[in-house]
Amino acid sequence: AKVLLVNGPNLNLLGRREPGHYGVKSLAQIVTDLTEEAKDAGIELEHIQSNAEHELIDAIHNTDADFIIINPAAFTHTSVAIRDAILGVSIPFIEVHLSNVHAREPFRHHSYFSDKAIGVICGLGAEGYHFALQSVVTRLNAKSA
Ligand code: DQA
Repeated sequence: AKVLLVNGPNLNLLGRREPGHYGVKSLAQIVTDLTEEAKDAGIELEHIQSNAEHELIDAIHNTDADFIIINPAAFTHTSVAIRDAILGVSIPFIEVHLSNVHAREPFRHHSYFSDKAIGVICGLGAEGYHFALQSVVTRLNAKSA
């Protein structure tokens, strides 16, 4: 099985970007850890981080993944286009945010993804990706059982 991990704009700065909100772990560390964890569960992890909306859309169109874990970052609150891409390929997804978006500015309270996600994890930092992957593993195992 394959999982596509999608990270949106500015997440390439993780580790040095507003660590109070986003923690001290770099994106490279997060992806390395998650790739390892996926491998242990027999899952291939594909990753894209981009600051460009169309690149995220193309990655979603072109993947053959069974599941998507996505942190759309600022596009969470703006992108009908990425929402449409993910609905267009009919791949189930979990939405992750490092920070608790509901405890922040009102413009972060609305997501163009949450009503279509299997589940949403926010406020648990980098561990959120790990919890999302755990849930994906459970779901994929249940499907193949
Ligand atoms: C974020 C929350 C968004 O509001 C913000 O624009 C981000 C990161 C998070 O992971 O907490 O870039 O998605």
